[in-house]
Amino acid sequence: MSFSPNPPIVCNLPRVTIIGAGRVGSTLAQRIAEKNLADVVLLDIIEGMPQGLALDLMEARGIELHNRQIIGTNNYADTSGSEIVVITAGLPRRPGMSRDDLLKTNAKIVVEAAKNAIAHSPNAIFIVVTNPLDVMTYLAWQATGLPRDRIMGMAGVLDSARLETFIALELGVLPADVKAMVLGSHGDLMVPLPRYATVNGIPVTELLDVATIARLAERTRNGGAEIVELMQTGGAFFAPASATSVMVESILLNQSRLLPVAAYLQGEYGLEDLVIGVPCRLGCGGIESILELNLSEGEREALKISAAAVRSSIERSQEILAATN
Ligand code: NAI
Ligand code: 2OP
Repeated sequence: MSFSPNPPIVCNLPRVTIIGAGRVGSTLAQRIAEKNLADVVLLDIIEGMPQGLALDLMEARGIELHNRQIIGTNNYADTSGSEIVVITAGLPRRPGMSRDDLLKTNAKIVVEAAKNAIAHSPNAIFIVVTNPLDVMTYLAWQATGLPRDRIMGMAGVLDSARLETFIALELGVLPADVKAMVLGSHGDLMVPLPRYATVNGIPVTELLDVATIARLAERTRNGGAEIVELMQTGGAFFAPASATSVMVESILLNQSRLLPVAAYLQGEYGLEDLVIGVPCRLGCGGIESILELNLSEGEREALKISAAAVRSSIERSQEILAATN
């Protein structure tokens, strides 16, 4: 028997580039390919590493029943024409490392990655994951010069998923039945909104007492640190990759999901010229609209404090970048 296949027809399938093939980046590549959302380009500075991961993921395709291409590379030319670019490159915070050290290191990495990626994919929508999240998203927005609807950060989907998990564990219900929203910056000053959390439409405030809700909100604020303390060797990556894949999916499939996203604000919530987590409708154009919730005085004050911390980190990042240029 002989089989002479014609050369495969080249189709323009959606392509997602992930910069940083570490734990979050490589797990995200797996989620995107296995959900059959797009072909994936994994880029890292370590030679051979993204190529090895891509080959490993390609070898799983027959078992996982998808036919997505996963390319590993150290060269931005291979990322050309991506619909979405996700930046996960940079260090996670390590014991003994100050926030300022992390800011200095990751600012340079994210600015360089954003500039290189936009040069090869001028029409892409960017999602930043690298910490400190709100500041890194701001720097990527500056570096790319993109309109604000095409650049955003991932944190709120993860923080909300953590709050939903803790509520579901407390009540003994299915996590998917719990919906919650966490706004503000990613870190100790995030703003969980239990008033808007429900279990299949039933307000959580009717199911749990004030002290329990406060305890679950506090655990959410420490969600990242709790995992670092347990693992000792790094931070969370499964849930962060899942959270990012939900944003990628809403954009690629034009789902218009209403998700908490770190967005550049121009007056919404009384905030201007900073990036912070707010509810956004995500579709094929990126951030299609920003929802301004009616916040209580306490919630608004918490968001203001969160924003003040982001603003001071943005100012510090501008000093750092000015000193290195
Ligand atoms: P990791 O250390 O496993 O991976 C980072 C990767 O970036 C490494 O493979 C490294 O070689 C690569 N890299 C460093 N410099 C680069 C450059 N100039 N160009 C291309 N690649 C470069 O770290 P992990 O766990 O994947 O976390 C990545 C980032 O995401 C960290 O900053 C972490 O804090 C952040 N993170 C943010 C979350 C969020 O909710 N926004 C959640 C989880 C992690
Ligand atoms: C997390 O929340 C550290 O941002 C990382 O897990």
